[in-house]
Amino acid sequence: MINPSLKINELRQQPIGVFDSGLGGLTVVNQLMNQLPGESIIYFGDTARVPYGTKSSLTIQRFSVQIARFLQQQGVKLIVVACNTASSVALEEIKESVTVPVIGVIEPGARAALRESATKRIGVIGTSATVSAGKYEAVLKSLDSSVEVFSRACPLFVPLVEEGWIDTPVTEEVAAIYLKPLMGKNIASLILGCTHYPIIKATIKKVVNGNVQIIDSAIETAVEVRNTLQSHKIMNESSHLPEHLFYVSDFPQKFEEIARRLLGRPLVNVHRIALDNSI
Ligand code: DGL
Repeated sequence: MINPSLKINELRQQPIGVFDSGLGGLTVVNQLMNQLPGESIIYFGDTARVPYGTKSSLTIQRFSVQIARFLQQQGVKLIVVACNTASSVALEEIKESVTVPVIGVIEPGARAALRESATKRIGVIGTSATVSAGKYEAVLKSLDSSVEVFSRACPLFVPLVEEGWIDTPVTEEVAAIYLKPLMGKNIASLILGCTHYPIIKATIKKVVNGNVQIIDSAIETAVEVRNTLQSHKIMNESSHLPEHLFYVSDFPQKFEEIARRLLGRPLVNVHRIALDNSI
């Protein structure tokens, strides 16, 4: 449901809300900026409480609902849960806590993988919480019951990316060890089920068989956002320049530094904010 107090023209100009456990969600922001250049964005990165991938479902649900409510208070017209971990364990709770449409990254990624997998053998990599939740597998099987899914948690990838170890021998070796069992399964595609993994896509490509299709959920999620805005008739059609505003719960300078590298442009509007526990 859409905020009923806003007129449709006002609503169209409202920003899209995006959130992640930290900075990885910028891979989704990057895609949104490319595919929907007219849309304003408010991003929240929970840099004080990252990582989510090693936490319990209950904790991730509590954090995610708090952030979704914060974004709704900022007047967003739609919320994108860029974090795979939060999309895996907290999507229903988030949807119940706000009145705007909510889009997670699991379904778009799963649909793209099915499209790209002639043999219907699909690999999924993600954080420990994402893999143990089994949401990718459940969604893939609900779309096509004949699909075979092979999942593997790759917990060292997130700290490697956060350290900026993108294209290093260590990252390549870690990737080779994590992905070896999946290569033995003869998969047709591999879903990068974590915000950080598209950043090391080139390294991952080096260690997987050349014919494995790499699925980047961020690209597919931006397509889904476009479709949802169109179907709700809330795409921003005004000629005003869009605004991009970033909130983090800690370390705005580190966020800015890494964001500059990821997006290839500096971010001007980065603010630290402590979320009110009563939200
Ligand atoms: N954003 C998380 C995800 O996509 C990765 C980082 C974390 O563990 O919080 O799963």
